[in-house]
Amino acid sequence: MQLFPSALCSDQSRANMALPFLCLICFSVLYYFLFFTVPSKPHNVQRVAFHFQPIKNWMNDPNGPMLYKGYYHFFYQWNPYAAVWGNITWGHAVSKDLIRWHHLEVALIPNQWYDLYGCWSGSATLVEEGKPIITYTGWSNASHSEDHKVQMQALAMPADYGDPLLRKWVKAPGNPIITAPQGIDSNFFRDPTTAWKGADGKWRMLVGSKENMTGMALLYRSPDFLNWRKAITPLHSVNGTGMWECPDFYPVSISDTYGLNTSAYGQGVMHVLKVSFVHDYYTVGTYITSNDTFLPVQSNLDVGIGLRYDYGKYYASKSFFDANKNRRILFGWVNESDGEAADISKGWASVQAFPRKVWLDKETNCSLLHWPIEELESLHRSKVTLDSVSLWKGSVTVVEGIKGAQLDVEATFDLPEINDAEIMDVSAENAQLMCSEKGASRNGVIGPFGFLVLATDDEMEHTAIFFVVVNSKDGWKVLVCSDQSRSSLATNLDKTTYGSFSNLSGSQTSVSVRILVDNSIVETFALGGKICITSRVYPKNAVGEAARLFLFNNGTVPIRMNSLIARELAGAKIDGIES
Ligand SMILES: *[C@@H]1O[C@H](CO)[C@@H](O)[C@H](O)[C@H]1NC(C)=O
Ligand SMILES: *[C@@H]1O[C@H](CO)[C@@H](O)[C@H](O)[C@H]1NC(C)=O
Ligand SMILES: *[C@@H]1O[C@H](CO)[C@@H](O)[C@H](O)[C@H]1NC(C)=O
Ligand SMILES: *[C@@H]1O[C@H](CO)[C@@H](O)[C@H](O)[C@H]1NC(C)=O
Ligand SMILES: *[C@@H]1O[C@H](CO)[C@@H](O)[C@H](O)[C@H]1NC(C)=O
Ligand SMILES: *[C@@H]1O[C@H](CO)[C@@H](O)[C@H](O)[C@H]1NC(C)=O
Ligand SMILES: *[C@@H]1O[C@H](CO)[C@@H](O)[C@H](O)[C@H]1NC(C)=O
Ligand SMILES: *[C@@H]1O[C@H](CO)[C@@H](O)[C@H](O)[C@H]1NC(C)=O
Ligand SMILES: *[C@@H]1O[C@H](CO)[C@@H](O)[C@H](O)[C@H]1NC(C)=O
Ligand SMILES: *[C@@H]1O[C@H](CO)[C@@H](O)[C@H](O)[C@H]1NC(C)=O
Repeated sequence: MQLFPSALCSDQSRANMALPFLCLICFSVLYYFLFFTVPSKPHNVQRVAFHFQPIKNWMNDPNGPMLYKGYYHFFYQWNPYAAVWGNITWGHAVSKDLIRWHHLEVALIPNQWYDLYGCWSGSATLVEEGKPIITYTGWSNASHSEDHKVQMQALAMPADYGDPLLRKWVKAPGNPIITAPQGIDSNFFRDPTTAWKGADGKWRMLVGSKENMTGMALLYRSPDFLNWRKAITPLHSVNGTGMWECPDFYPVSISDTYGLNTSAYGQGVMHVLKVSFVHDYYTVGTYITSNDTFLPVQSNLDVGIGLRYDYGKYYASKSFFDANKNRRILFGWVNESDGEAADISKGWASVQAFPRKVWLDKETNCSLLHWPIEELESLHRSKVTLDSVSLWKGSVTVVEGIKGAQLDVEATFDLPEINDAEIMDVSAENAQLMCSEKGASRNGVIGPFGFLVLATDDEMEHTAIFFVVVNSKDGWKVLVCSDQSRSSLATNLDKTTYGSFSNLSGSQTSVSVRILVDNSIVETFALGGKICITSRVYPKNAVGEAARLFLFNNGTVPIRMNSLIARELAGAKIDGIES
């Protein structure tokens, strides 16, 4: 029997007195399905489908990622009231696979004298028996004046270790556990790292700071996680860099791609120090445990003057060791490029970059490789594969059989005879400028060649991800560029073109790229993850099903695309409390 036969609401049945009541139920059910089962999140084409983002409002730094009792926990700097920065709390979500998230209630809110103005960034450490403790920065007015705000470090523990979702957190009675030491301005003293344990059984952690223009990672030690003492020398510092935000310090294996527990050290281990100022800079070095100092492998690649995690938008990143799959995973904040007014009207701002696995590049032993975590495969839908396609001079070819604004594209291009490459001096200082001045629409020799993503049929809107091979004065190089200049017909957007480069050895015969496209974010992983570039784009027409993928070559030398796998991606369900 039909539960609510449509005849019940028809004219003929009006005489029956019970019917208006049934109709009411009928409509209530309909209303429920229409309005309550659909998440009441803002709907717009720029929202992402498989990247992390809150249901609404402003987000910035990733905080305290960890694995606890089978759940991945992710916290983030979040303003519960608006799509602009302010009133910073710790938003909280959990996931079984780092893709499908369930939002929970906020974990930390400003409600103590030492964090009255905000619960700022920090980390999670799995302490004795794997029990988590959060370290974070409280922002307050402790020094008896409304306008003098200070930063202090504080702890929070789960109220119930038995709850795998860790819904409730309590702040330590001993907070703040660390206040700014003598000689350090308390306005520049923040973002405690995950702690690690030394051979002496003491915990160690870093706090970001600066003295004059010397950026530094201050080192603290503790026998019990509650009482912390500053070491005389910082773990590391670099003059001329300014404030070091969000330091991250972790071991990497010199022999494989597995991740290591943050406390690992010794034989077979190198360490990575990452700090944030304008961009996320890192350096690989040796952690000298005898005196708790850090020595970069190459002083010319020290923090801030050498390598970046990402050459586009990527900031305040934080890694954690995933003991479940023995890997180190990295989250990074990717902000908007459309301005504050647009954010307010959208009702939200910022996404997190897709989680990346990080490990040491064995070809250099002093740089890292980044790669999207394998869980992305669970979202793969239909795919198109192509082998051996020649891209002739000036060609622009649509990739048939694939469309949409959610893609995972992987391709390899064979390099032609590189002696033909144009002469162009490329350096770390000018790579972005070279990508920008020359752009995708320039006629070069070996490149520009690559992809147009989020493109309209008429190519009026497109984001170009491309390579250019050049003969630089200190050797052959390949530029990797992400050109946003024609990404949208809309104006008032930051359409900066990003770029970086890699040395080409004579024996290298191909270049590869993987591109993740998700409505308003494009992430490029070039050369097996040596160079990453993240950009935000807001096409007006190249949205949803209208978005196309093209291959192009604007160089004079034909390029053979060796292989292509392009996949459409499903969206990941994100649900839970409107945190
Ligand atoms: C924080 O929220 C309060 C109450 O909603 C508001 O008055 C205040 O201006 C906010 N502060 C910031 C920095 O956004
Ligand atoms: C890492 O090692 C420390 C010290 O041995 C231990 O307490 C902690 O639980 C380990 N963490 C993880 C994620 O395995
Ligand atoms: C800090 O500010 C709050 C309100 O903004 C005020 O009530 C409190 O007295 C201030 N604390 C100090 C130490 O000045
Ligand atoms: C910072 O500047 C002060 C005053 O000029 C000086 O005494 C101090 O040594 C400097 N510190 C560093 C780390 O350069
Ligand atoms: C840092 O660099 C500045 C100028 O570049 C110099 O004046 C200052 O002495 C340097 N400080 C240290 C601690 O080396
Ligand atoms: C730490 O030890 C290393 C190796 O013995 C040494 O080169 C370095 O100068 C020391 N650093 C400090 C700050 O003592
Ligand atoms: C956020 O984006 C704007 C505009 O695109 C940029 O100028 C700014 O530096 C970014 N901020 C951070 C912290 O990345
Ligand atoms: C990197 O380190 C490994 C292990 O120590 C070594 O076998 C390899 O030759 C090194 N590679 C380079 C490029 O230095
Ligand atoms: C290739 O170059 C031509 C001429 O400069 C330009 O019109 C076209 O837009 C370029 N193609 C791409 C994909 O940028
Ligand atoms: C690239 O080559 C130049 C010149 O040989 C060299 O100085 C530089 O260290 C190389 N860069 C990398 C990342 O290997």
